[in-house]
Amino acid sequence: MSIDTPPISPQQYEVLHGGGAEAAEIAQQRISRRRFLRRSMLAVWGVSTVSAVAGALFYMYPQLSGGFGSVLTVGKVAEFKAAKPADFKLEAAGVYHRPVARTYVIHLDPSTEFLLKGQDLDAQLSSENVVKASDGSYWIALYQKCVHLGCTVPFRDNCSSFKCPCHGSHYNVSGEFLDGPAPRSLDRFQISIEGDDVKVNTGAINSTVAHPDETTRLIHAPTVDCTV
Ligand code: FES
Repeated sequence: MSIDTPPISPQQYEVLHGGGAEAAEIAQQRISRRRFLRRSMLAVWGVSTVSAVAGALFYMYPQLSGGFGSVLTVGKVAEFKAAKPADFKLEAAGVYHRPVARTYVIHLDPSTEFLLKGQDLDAQLSSENVVKASDGSYWIALYQKCVHLGCTVPFRDNCSSFKCPCHGSHYNVSGEFLDGPAPRSLDRFQISIEGDDVKVNTGAINSTVAHPDETTRLIHAPTVDCTV
């Protein structure tokens, strides 16, 4: 039965076909029901369409959602105590995990010793998304995902470095490749300091940080053994 002809009772049918004021009123009720059903169907169709479009936009433009893929404030500057590479301790000195941004925020002390100097150092810092703050410290946002096959890489306090539990890829405190099957160093997001806020742009990833060699390595390999 069509929505344009909703069911009526035998009594209504008789009155309708007998004419008079009652018939007119029942006919009016039927028109109202038709309108109601049409509007209900339109409303359901409208809500479904809006939901589908919103879902498509979320996947096409995740930065609009305010989640991973957008610029995220991951904390205040004071929450990230800087440290030299050998003194790194997860969540206490130099290295801080921020799962909402799938990021390790690295904060290197101004006295950190780099292997490169001068313009070579400046060029390397710039190409690898390392930001030098006004107090002389250095900030990096490392993507937590191993560039081998995608496992989340933990920071190991006892190794002063990142060591992947899946196949053993090993990265130093700034995410530079040390050893293992990974094809390159850890990827980095853009990071910025805006007033007191530390912001990570999880929509802007640098996935071109190569295996360093003696001309491009920024930081010494850790001196501690990390075989277990
Ligand atoms: S996924 Fe990390 S070493 Fe394979």
